[in-house]
Amino acid sequence: MKELEKILENAKNEISACEKSADLANVKAKYLGKKSELQELLSKMKDMTVEEKKTIGKEINEVKQSINALVENKNKEIEDKILNEKLESEKIDITLPSKKLRRGSKHPMSRMVEEFEDIFVSMGYTVYEGLEIESDENCFQKLNLPIGHPARDAQDTFYLENEIDRFLLRSQTSTAQVRAMEENKEKGPIRIVCPGKVYRRDEDATHSHQFMQIEGLVIDENISMADLKGTLELFCKKILGEKTKVRFRPSYFPFTEPSVEVDVTCFKCGGKGCNLCKQTGWIEVLGAGMVHPNVLEMSGYDSKKYQGFAFGTGIDRFAMFKYGIPDIRTIYGNDIRFIEQFDRKDED
Ligand code: DAH
Repeated sequence: MKELEKILENAKNEISACEKSADLANVKAKYLGKKSELQELLSKMKDMTVEEKKTIGKEINEVKQSINALVENKNKEIEDKILNEKLESEKIDITLPSKKLRRGSKHPMSRMVEEFEDIFVSMGYTVYEGLEIESDENCFQKLNLPIGHPARDAQDTFYLENEIDRFLLRSQTSTAQVRAMEENKEKGPIRIVCPGKVYRRDEDATHSHQFMQIEGLVIDENISMADLKGTLELFCKKILGEKTKVRFRPSYFPFTEPSVEVDVTCFKCGGKGCNLCKQTGWIEVLGAGMVHPNVLEMSGYDSKKYQGFAFGTGIDRFAMFKYGIPDIRTIYGNDIRFIEQFDRKDED
């Protein structure tokens, strides 16, 4: 039937020209609705013979189905197009660099403390935390500095009460020696380092009223000066570099006998002499010595059976040398611009 072919042809053209769902709905109504040409043809069928009805009815139905399929395909096409446009317009570009997050940076003193601790922990020491508020007994008397001892003058600190039952801000981490020995109820071997804040009545470019020290204490049977020398030499080389030379000078501390001061070859000039080492080639970095028998006995240790060595140093000094910090007060000033610089220094 020519007419049917024409209808299908027209429907095809109109459907494919549709761009919107609304247009498509109109076209659908036009070709498949109650007033469509197809419907008109169907209504004419009542005058036909049974044979004619069969063939033409079948043909009309086929055309109807074809148009329906075309509409459905077109509908899907339009919906896909809308979806794709939406996806395109709402796309997030993950390649775009994000806003930079501000990262915190570790304080130079925390870096130094961790470095010290790592070295000593690798040698079998444990990290011991002392107290910052101490009794006069622990800070001085049990370290062989009785009341009135002249060596106290070098460590004038902040007292919380009057001078007799006085509590004070510890002036040296050596107080941790006393605590560690007293807390060790078996009076057995000890191997500790104690980093922490200490306080003195000082204030200039190289002295702050608050600064940091690290104390070391080893107690065991058969400990000798050779153990002290070996340990501190290894420590200095680890922290300042393998080329560092170490020298031990006799000195005096009330809580050690014999006592030494430890010098290292200047890290700036390598020992040739410069302004940092005051042209001597050497820089003093540690105080140390064999634990005085009085100190062992006062904290309940048998000084015939046990010996020990101790050492102490200022962590700030190491940080100042390592990072080239000219004024100790900047370390405690909490200026974020100061603290941030050390991230970059460590990456160098
Ligand atoms: N506590 C001393 C000071 O503040 C440093 C020191 C010297 C610690 C000798 C020691 C030591 O353990 O044996 O100056």
